[in-house]
Amino acid sequence: MSFLKLERVIKRFGSVTVINGVSLEVKKGEFVVFVGPSGCGKSTLLRMVAGLEELTDGDVHIDGRIVTTVEPADREVSMVFQSYALYPHMSVFDNIAFGLKMAKMPPDEIRKRVDEAARILQIEALLDRKPRQLSGGQRQRVAIGRAIVRHPKIFLFDEPLSNLDADLRTQMRVEIAKLHRQLGVTMVYVTHDQIEAMTLADRIVVLRSGIVEQIGAPTDLYDRPANTFVAGFIGSPKMNFLRAHVKAVDPQGITVSHEAFSGGTVLAPRSSARPIEVGAPVTIGLRPENLVIGSANPLLELVADVSENLGGATQVYAAAPDGGVVTIVANGRPKVGRGERLPVGLGSGHVYLFDEAGQSI
Ligand SMILES: Nc1ncnc2c1ncn2[C@@H]1O[C@H](COP(=O)(O)OP(=O)(O)OP(=O)(O)O)[C@@H](O)[C@H]1O
Ligand SMILES: [Mg+2]
Repeated sequence: MSFLKLERVIKRFGSVTVINGVSLEVKKGEFVVFVGPSGCGKSTLLRMVAGLEELTDGDVHIDGRIVTTVEPADREVSMVFQSYALYPHMSVFDNIAFGLKMAKMPPDEIRKRVDEAARILQIEALLDRKPRQLSGGQRQRVAIGRAIVRHPKIFLFDEPLSNLDADLRTQMRVEIAKLHRQLGVTMVYVTHDQIEAMTLADRIVVLRSGIVEQIGAPTDLYDRPANTFVAGFIGSPKMNFLRAHVKAVDPQGITVSHEAFSGGTVLAPRSSARPIEVGAPVTIGLRPENLVIGSANPLLELVADVSENLGGATQVYAAAPDGGVVTIVANGRPKVGRGERLPVGLGSGHVYLFDEAGQSI
């Protein structure tokens, strides 16, 4: 049974529809991550779950109860924001306890809950400090502490780590994964960060312009994206797309032809029962991390353009004969000169295929 359920949720600001009929079910204890381009409605959706934004239409259910018109304070959800406004004049303890004091909880119980949250977040030694005496990561922990002490049914996170530097982000990402394991509580998490989405989520919801494009486990979305949008959004660097044509359709797969293919064709596995005809234009998807330079059995003949040395890996941008750019992530530091001809093969993974409407075939 679902613990959080969104039913045909619609949100309009004036005449602009920003959420256009989103239905979604989250199981108890599940970690669900919302991703999508800026402005697609992630925060709005989260705020509607929290009760901070009214719905134009549809319903929100939490733990079997319709809460669409229930006040935020009575929904038993806690939200952690990107900018965690702590009260500067209050100690860490008082910042964490603030909501409980306002709710007139007995001081003994407040002490117990703050101590428990501080232990979970490993900030016991910081309870007497003021926010200005804390690092960014410690402040973020205090903000999460404020959410924990309320013992919410659902945690909502809106890009909680995006103000932190790369190191701290990684550290806090692991902390949040541990927190989820420890508390076993339902979490809905918004992020722009591919790694956060892939590593934290039980399931990822990909949103575009207020609609759900696909919902699935991270590896499902990576291996079997429903369309070119999801394929391009999940995975970094972005999937390469090449325009091609269907040469043959067989039970074992679809043969497609492209002028950059050595041998002229490649066989792609079928990933749906969607009809496709010989001669039809298609889009081929190749993941940069699946391509290898200097393969004995090359798939593509490309011309190197820019190459970026990242230390342990090298990102090479090469031109296909049709003018498209193909990104390749190579291990180590292969010497690739500008203008060099590159035989490129498929090392792992598979060729993705999409029809003219961008749907996976
Ligand atoms: N109060 C408001 N009035 C009018 N339009 C709004 C309001 N709040 C949000 N919007 C619009 O709704 C759309 C969705 O906004 P939202 O903040 O949910 O996007 P988002 O996916 O969280 O984006 P980001 O990744 O940049 O945080 C945007 O086009 C935004 O401009
Ligand atoms: Mg947002």
